[in-house]
Amino acid sequence: MSQALPKAPYGGLPANLLEAFAALKKERGAVVLAHYYQEPEIQDAADFVGDSLELARFAQKSQAGTILFCGVHFMAEGAKILNPRARVLMPDLRAGCSLSDSCPPEAFARFRARHRNAFVVSYINCSAAIKAQSDVICTSSNAARIVERAPKDRPVIFAPDRNLGAWVAGQTGRELLLWQGTCIVHETFSERKIIDLQTRHPEAELIAHPECEPSLLARAVFVGSTSKLLKHVIESPKRAFIVATESGILHQMKLKAPGKTLIPAPPNQNCACNECPFMKLNTLEKCYLALRDGAPEITMDEELRLKALAPLERMLEWSA
Ligand code: 13P
Ligand code: SF4
Repeated sequence: MSQALPKAPYGGLPANLLEAFAALKKERGAVVLAHYYQEPEIQDAADFVGDSLELARFAQKSQAGTILFCGVHFMAEGAKILNPRARVLMPDLRAGCSLSDSCPPEAFARFRARHRNAFVVSYINCSAAIKAQSDVICTSSNAARIVERAPKDRPVIFAPDRNLGAWVAGQTGRELLLWQGTCIVHETFSERKIIDLQTRHPEAELIAHPECEPSLLARAVFVGSTSKLLKHVIESPKRAFIVATESGILHQMKLKAPGKTLIPAPPNQNCACNECPFMKLNTLEKCYLALRDGAPEITMDEELRLKALAPLERMLEWSA
C-alpha cells in the first residue's frame, strides 16, 4: 500500500523524510529501537530509546514482525538472538564496535583454555561467537550484580572491556581475569583537560561511563551506564555536569533535564573523538532505506544463536 507514502522525487528518498519514515514504519509493522548514542533525529524518530540492557529486554519482548535496530552490530545481533522470529534490520551493517573487535573468538578460546576452571562473564559488547563461549553476559547497567553471582569457588574471566572489568572488580571485591580490550571512544578522554574543566567549573559534577580509564573513573562522582547517567542528571539536585561518555547521550539529557548545564568531556586531540564513529554511521536516510528495502538484515546460524542465547537469558534472569 505504498500509495500512502509521499512520492520520491530524487535519489529514491522522499522530500519529507521524517513523515515518510513514520508512514513506512506503520506500513511495515516495524518497531524502531535506538541507542542513546544515535543522532538526535534518529532518537526522536524511534519508538524506544535505551541503554544496551533496556534495548535487549525490549527486543526480546517485542511482538513486531520487523525490528529496525539503530545502534551497532552486537546490539542488533543480540536482538536477533533473543527474538529470532523477528526480522532484524540495521541502517548500516558496517556499524561495528572497537571493543567487540578487540576480542577475536579464536584468541578468546585460547585465553579460556589457559584458565580451564574459570567462569566466563562477557560484556554484551562482543560478538555472538564470544557470547557462545560465555557463562553469562552483563551490560554496564548490571555488571557488578552479575559478577557478584558468579560461583565463589571458581576464578572469573571478564571480557572484553578491561576498564569496566577493573571497575567491577573494585565494586565487588572479586578478583577478575581481564581481557585487555578497550573502547576507542571512552579511552580518548583527556584527564588533563577534565582537570582543567573542573577548575573552570568547580560547580560541575564529573559523571562517567565505566568504559572510561580507571584514573578518570576515580575522579568521577557518579559512574554508570548511559541510562543511569541520564537518570542521575535528571534526579540530582546539582545543576551542572561534565559528562564523560559518547556525546549522543546529551540529547536526552537536554530533553529530560532542561535548564541543567551539560559539558561534554573533552577528548585528547582536537577532534570529535567523543563521538562513536560506528554509531554515527547510521543516518535517518539509511533508516528509511533499510525499512523500504528490508535490508541489511541480521542473519545467523541457528546453532550459534542457541549457544549465545543461554548466557544472554541467564543475564536477563539474574538481573530481573
Ligand atoms: P550502555 O549499555 O551503557 O548504553 O553502553 C553501551 C555502549 O556501547 C557504551 O559504549
Ligand atoms: Fe563500541 Fe565504544 Fe562505540 Fe560503545 S562507544 S559502540 S563500546 S566503540
